[in-house]
Amino acid sequence: MAYKTVDISQDAEALERVRALGYMQAPSSSPTPTTGPAFAPTRSASWLPKRRQSQPDDPAGVPVLTSATLIYFSSVSNNTHRFVEKLGLPEGETARLPLRTTEETLQATEPFVLVTPSYGADGGKGSVPKQVITFLNVESNRRLLRGVIGSGNTNFQESYCVAGDIIAAKCSVPHLYRFELMGTERDVSTVLKGLEEFWKQQSSLSAA
Ligand SMILES: Cc1cc2nc3c(=O)[nH]c(=O)nc-3n(C[C@H](O)[C@H](O)[C@H](O)COP(=O)(O)O)c2cc1C
Repeated sequence: MAYKTVDISQDAEALERVRALGYMQAPSSSPTPTTGPAFAPTRSASWLPKRRQSQPDDPAGVPVLTSATLIYFSSVSNNTHRFVEKLGLPEGETARLPLRTTEETLQATEPFVLVTPSYGADGGKGSVPKQVITFLNVESNRRLLRGVIGSGNTNFQESYCVAGDIIAAKCSVPHLYRFELMGTERDVSTVLKGLEEFWKQQSSLSAA
């Protein structure tokens, strides 16, 4: 990843920009050491660092940090985005990957679950969206990935949510759940309960 070096003690505009990100000091590009997040039953995000989310107009080359615990891709059809909205998680707990691969991808700073649709061509080729590949090509993002949730369409039969299967196999994480299109109310409540349980387990694993 290309980085631009800026001395914020000399560059007032850059300092302002860093402050606008919510930092009181210069951020580090290395991920924060994790103690494992606990999904509070209230879904409050008090344990999350106060940090700004993705901004589509960030100039290329500047990593966009996110402490979201649910990171997702959704194309212009927005099905996955609608599903994530229905989860009603607090702002800052979800982050959407940029639509265009020319935009800088996100850099996760906390363990997270990835939600991705499948976009297969002939023979299931290219099922993982290239925006997701770009994101997972960042080693620190792969290291913080804890699980994947697949979205898709059952019309694709044996390729239903296949991107989730591929990522789970490649990154050795569980494919936690699959849902169709923008998901049903039942999907929403199952995922909310499942994530809460999942983060509790992760938390006790990292405490052990
Ligand atoms: C060209 C194309 C290929 C697709 N391939 C698959 C597939 O292989 N498996 C699957 O489950 N769904 C597949 N889908 C369905 C999408 O994953 C589904 O519509 C999803 O909800 C899209 O999410 P998004 O609107 O957030 O991008 C495909 C859709 C399109 C348009």
